[in-house]
Amino acid sequence: MKMYDLIEKKKRGKRLSEREIGFLVSGYTGGEIPDYQMSAFLMAACLRGLDHKETLALTKAMRDSGDRLDLSYLGGLAADKHSTGGVGDKTSLIVGPIAAALGLKIAKMSGRGLGHTGGTIDKLESVEGFETTLSPERFSKQVQEIGLAIIGQSRNLAPADKKIYALRDLTATVDSIGLIASSIMSKKLAAGADVIVLDVKVGSGAFMKTKADAKALALEMTEIGRGCGKKVRAVLSNMDVPLGSAVGNALEVAEAVRVLRNEEKGELLELCLELAANMVSLAKNCPIDKARIMAAEAVTSGKALEVFRRWMKAQGAKDVSFIEAPDKLCPAERRRTVVARESGYIVSMNAETIGKAAALLGAGRETLDDRIDPSAGIMLLRKTGDYVRAGDPVAELYTSSAAAFEEAETAFCSALRFGAKEPRKKPLIYGIV
Ligand code: URA
Repeated sequence: MKMYDLIEKKKRGKRLSEREIGFLVSGYTGGEIPDYQMSAFLMAACLRGLDHKETLALTKAMRDSGDRLDLSYLGGLAADKHSTGGVGDKTSLIVGPIAAALGLKIAKMSGRGLGHTGGTIDKLESVEGFETTLSPERFSKQVQEIGLAIIGQSRNLAPADKKIYALRDLTATVDSIGLIASSIMSKKLAAGADVIVLDVKVGSGAFMKTKADAKALALEMTEIGRGCGKKVRAVLSNMDVPLGSAVGNALEVAEAVRVLRNEEKGELLELCLELAANMVSLAKNCPIDKARIMAAEAVTSGKALEVFRRWMKAQGAKDVSFIEAPDKLCPAERRRTVVARESGYIVSMNAETIGKAAALLGAGRETLDDRIDPSAGIMLLRKTGDYVRAGDPVAELYTSSAAAFEEAETAFCSALRFGAKEPRKKPLIYGIV
C-alpha cells in the first residue's frame, strides 16, 4: 500500500477502506509517513469529506493508537463531557462538581486552549498549586472518593490524534466534520467513560458556524459513540456570544465559583444544568425532567460547591479561600475599561474576535509552547441585546502587560456591532441529539 495512492483516491472523492485508514494512521504515528503527505491527505479529506464508515474507521484507528483506560471498576457511573470548543466556556468546572454531587464519577482528561478557544487545563492552572498531572493511583483514588478528577491529556492516550491535530491546526484542516468527529470521539472512547455528553457549539465562536453543520457533527459523534457501546447525547448550544461574562483563565474560574455559590443565574448556569442533567439521566436511567431538578438542587443546596472545594484541595490548591471570595483570583496588574463608541443596541458580538482579543491580552496562545498569563482576559459588562449609550462601559480588559491594551481594545471593539433595533434573541440550546 502506498500513501501516494491513498491521497490520490481521496482527492477523487473515493471512499477509503478500513485497512487503508489503519495504514495511514499507524504510518503517520510511527513516523513512516511524512507531514507533507499527511497534510495532502487531510486537505483532500476536508474538501471531499469522509463518510460515516471512513469516520468510524479513523476514530477506531486513532483510539487504538495508544492506551485505553478501563473505568469498569466505577460500575457504569463513569461519565465524561466534551465541548467542541468555544469562548468563555467554563462549563467543565461547574458540570463536573454538579454531576459528582449527584453520584457520578467524572474521570476527565482535558486540553489546553489554542487560538481563540480556551482550555480547561489552563483555567485550572490559574489556581496556585493545582496539579494537572496525577499518578494513575492518585487519579483513581480521587475519582472514587470525591467523584471528580480532571487532568491533562495523558501522553499516550490517542497519540495519533495528538499528532494529526497539531498538523491540522497548521494546515487549515480543522473544520471538517469527519476529522473533528473522529478526533473528539477517539479521545473520549480511549478515556473509558460509559456516558459521554457532548456540547456541540454553534456560531461565531465555534468551529461549526451553522446549525446544519453542528447537527451533522452531533449525529456523526453520537452514532460513533453508540456504535461503540457508549451512552451518548449531544447538546447543540449557542456560541454566537461568549458564554457567561468572563473570558480568560482566572476570571473564568472565579465566574464558575460564583455560579456554584448560587450567586449568578443566566445562560452559563442554564447550560451547565442541562449538560449535567443529561449525564445523570443517561447514567442513572432517570427521566430528564427529574435529572434537571436534581442538578438544580445540587447547586442551590451547596453540595456541588462542597465537591468543588474537596476537588481543589485534593488536586493541590494552596489556598482555597477564593471559594469564599472569588475576586481574590483575579489580581491582574493592569485594567482598562472599554466604553461604547456609539449609542444603540448591541446587535452582535463576534465570539471568535473576542477570544482573539483575550489572547492578545495574554489569556491565550498561538502555539502550544507559548506561555499564558493566567490573570489576563476580558469581563463583559454588556452583551448582545443590551442597549448602551456612547461612553457606557461595555467591558473590562485585564492584563499584566500594558503594551497589550491598544491592539486588544481595537480587536475587541471590532467584534461589536450596534444598531437601532433590538436584535431577536437567539436560543441558548438549539436541540438535543
Ligand atoms: N476538538 C478536538 O479535540 N478535535 C477537533 O478536531 C476539534 C476540536
